Amino acid sequence: MKVLGIETSCDETGVAVYDTDLGLRAHALYSQIALHAQYGGVVPELASRDHVRKLLPLVRQTLAESGMTVDEIDGVAYTAGPGLVGALLVGAGVARSLAWALDVPAVAVHHMEGHLLAPLIEDDPQGRPQPPFVALLVSGGHTQLVAVDAIGRYRLLGETLDDAAGEAFDKTAKLMGLPYPGGPQLAALAEQGRPGTYRFPRPMTNRPGLDFSFSGLKTQVLLAWRDSEQSDEARADIARGFEDAVVDTLAIKCERALDEAGCETLVVAGGVGANKRLRAKLADMAQRRGGRVCFPRPAFCTDNGAMIAFAGALRLLAGQHEDAAVRVTPRWDM
Ligand code: KG4
Ligand code: ZN
Repeated sequence: MKVLGIETSCDETGVAVYDTDLGLRAHALYSQIALHAQYGGVVPELASRDHVRKLLPLVRQTLAESGMTVDEIDGVAYTAGPGLVGALLVGAGVARSLAWALDVPAVAVHHMEGHLLAPLIEDDPQGRPQPPFVALLVSGGHTQLVAVDAIGRYRLLGETLDDAAGEAFDKTAKLMGLPYPGGPQLAALAEQGRPGTYRFPRPMTNRPGLDFSFSGLKTQVLLAWRDSEQSDEARADIARGFEDAVVDTLAIKCERALDEAGCETLVVAGGVGANKRLRAKLADMAQRRGGRVCFPRPAFCTDNGAMIAFAGALRLLAGQHEDAAVRVTPRWDM
């Protein structure tokens, strides 16, 4: 089965073709970052318009790269939520129309399920991870620990009570004067920072439970930055202190979640999963425990069409698809 996947939940237009026999055939991504940078964040109306402009050309490009014609598509998967309603509607409208015109099923995919399954898209030297496993989902909008008992059977173990980890990266970057989206830039800056020069709290690690809270860290960074000489060196040292605090906190809670779920496989997904120090820290932890941690390649940590094509293919294989209505769910629990 060959499935076209469409992602338009926020500020990236992602398209991919996943073949259940041959794996990922092609994928393409258009990022709107340059468009939104001047506003310091995503402007929903501009995001929708840019998806309208880019989506069909990207579908054509992806099909051409896959060496397939549109008639060979057996199903269309699209992100139906959570996300920006206008942006979601662009993807849903195009996906449904294509499916109708081609007389193939269309399937609505939950964006976070897409992220969660991203580590399973491609072969791994140790084989693709099989449930049961624990998933750490760390994006700009979510921070969740999920027990995956089977594909499609998810139990929420813990989540953030305020900011998501990616949001904390972005806001912290902004308050130290880095341009939007600051997360990856803050991480790059932290590479030059000296560890231990600034030490920030590891929120909610000194009490039981698997929830997170990252909004207080921002204030701590703001105070440290205000009291510093505000040099490039101080910015890098603070970035390092902040990154270490977030990474340690996530690692402590992941280890706790593995204990609680009684399994030794952790998969990590979402934009913050691209963070090098987080990847290294979790790999160390897995090695120490004799377990395993799996990450998608960095390009499939952040938003992309491949994860939607893949999650949709699994749902279509399981016989699921929707009626012909164009519906989206901007707020949607997994
Ligand atoms: O999954 P994603 O592309 O979009 C959402 O669904 O939110 O995640 C984007 C988030 C942003 O907050 C971005 O700053 C963060 O992931 N991010 C990173 C890194 N790369 C992306 N945060 C820390 N280190 C990185 N290397
Ligand atoms: Zn995402």
